[in-house]
Amino acid sequence: MSGPVVIVGAPGSGKSTVGALLAARLGLTFRDVDAVIEAEVGKPVAEIFADDGEPVFRALEEATTLRLLAEDGVLSLGGGAVISPEIRAALKGREVVWLQVGPAQAAKRVGMTEARPLLLGNVRGRLIKLLAERTPLYAEVASQSVPTDDRSPEEVVRIIVDGL
Ligand code: S3P
Repeated sequence: MSGPVVIVGAPGSGKSTVGALLAARLGLTFRDVDAVIEAEVGKPVAEIFADDGEPVFRALEEATTLRLLAEDGVLSLGGGAVISPEIRAALKGREVVWLQVGPAQAAKRVGMTEARPLLLGNVRGRLIKLLAERTPLYAEVASQSVPTDDRSPEEVVRIIVDGL
């Protein structure tokens, strides 16, 4: 298949960690949409939210994601990428791995970092709401789903590889 293996899931689902491990395992290039945006804009995602607002970030996210979907490798999307109908349409028919995570485990992994502006204040509460809103969207685009709560990144990678 051409195009990347795409990793989707909520913040704290392990997209960046698992994506990098999976790419190494498959001998492919790893790209993370948030990291590419940060490198191209020259500031962290949290600062883009603070300085320019969420709509500016979402527009950048959509353009960058659509562009990177044309390149082979492993591509981790931002947790909110599936909100975009254009991105969801572009994911149809692709290898899309959904890393499933519950709110408690996601909150534990995310910690109290300020790097995730949408979670500030009440990390667990915001994750519960975000998961409720987005679970149908992740389910819509996924070709493979992997529960990650009680699994190490290495175990998750093994399951993904078996399912490819
Ligand atoms: C977001 C998730 C973040 C980042 C931005 C918005 C979201 O990525 O793209 O802060 O809407 O869930 P991670 O999923 O890597 O935390």
